[in-house]
Amino acid sequence: MGSAKRVVAIPGEDAAAEAFAATTSLLDGLSLDLDWSYPPVGAAAIQTHGEPFPPEARAAIDDSDAALFGATSGASAGALFYLRWGRETFANVRPTRFAQGVGSPLTRPEGIDLVIVRENLEDLYVLSEGALQDLAPLGLSSATWQKPVADLGPGAYALKVITERGCQRVARFAFELARRRKAQGQVGKVTCATKHNLLFRTDGLFHEVAQHVAGEYQDIEFEALIIDDFANRLVGRPQQFDVVLLPNLYGDVLSDAAAALAGGLGLAASGCYGNDYAYFEPVHGTAPDLERQRVNPTATILCAAMMLEYLEFGEAAQQLVAAVERVYARGAPLTPDQGGSASTDEFCDAVAAAI
Ligand code: IPM
Ligand code: MN
Repeated sequence: MGSAKRVVAIPGEDAAAEAFAATTSLLDGLSLDLDWSYPPVGAAAIQTHGEPFPPEARAAIDDSDAALFGATSGASAGALFYLRWGRETFANVRPTRFAQGVGSPLTRPEGIDLVIVRENLEDLYVLSEGALQDLAPLGLSSATWQKPVADLGPGAYALKVITERGCQRVARFAFELARRRKAQGQVGKVTCATKHNLLFRTDGLFHEVAQHVAGEYQDIEFEALIIDDFANRLVGRPQQFDVVLLPNLYGDVLSDAAAALAGGLGLAASGCYGNDYAYFEPVHGTAPDLERQRVNPTATILCAAMMLEYLEFGEAAQQLVAAVERVYARGAPLTPDQGGSASTDEFCDAVAAAI
């Protein structure tokens, strides 16, 4: 006791909960000093507390060292929003690494080892939308249409907000990550991609701050691409990337695309880091269309490994990743999304045995 790390568990909905349960039993087998709490969240919390994200759940998060989150269909969105915006977890880290035995649509996926660092709190995700006519008093005009935006007709707008502070902290995070990866043998490069050739003010600011921060990291190579060019290169030759720094929405979309290059969403893990908190959540959703007993828990397991690393159980984290890779390299037992017929539990048992 005393030194145990406190972890909040939020399994989420549908098949995500299945992958979550399989992952936590795998972790239990590692006998780490982890103190799990399952606060009331989502549909169950509505039953017991009358709301999907009661103050108890928020207090549990505030009291914890980290959280592991399954995925949400919407019911646990309150918890997700608090984990991001409440705890200011501004850097969303989404690695894509090809390992032997993992499915890929590419003929030569060997050597893919990139990490998307997605700004996690700003951009269109400030979620401020409204009716176009509400913009009339502001007299805003469209640079392309050359007329007031409010005159474009009945419709809607969304605000894209980029702040200097938001850009700076995520850019520094990306460069620090590139430095740590370089120490482990990677090339040491940050690629920033934006639409700065059109969105001069918003993406322009993101681009400019990244360039400025690059000046503080002479040991790290820096390149700035236009986002559509980046998308093309990501699919064409993903091996050219190391750390990729992206604004929120591009990062959301392109991290799903990146995931497809090395095993798909069943394998894509992600962690959201702030200054004093982090939580871990697969890139995928809740997969309500998949058979619950046969979902691939790899993404959740790799999230758990990222969490263990964050909680300073580095050795256990590496063991877990190595065990997962051994099962894929052997080619069995794998879940249906990887061409196998194993159940979630059979896959996890094989990982446990490989540890
Ligand atoms: C993700 C998801 C979320 C996002 C949703 C659930 C709000 O797609 O984590 O990638 O858009 O960020
Ligand atoms: Mn997404």
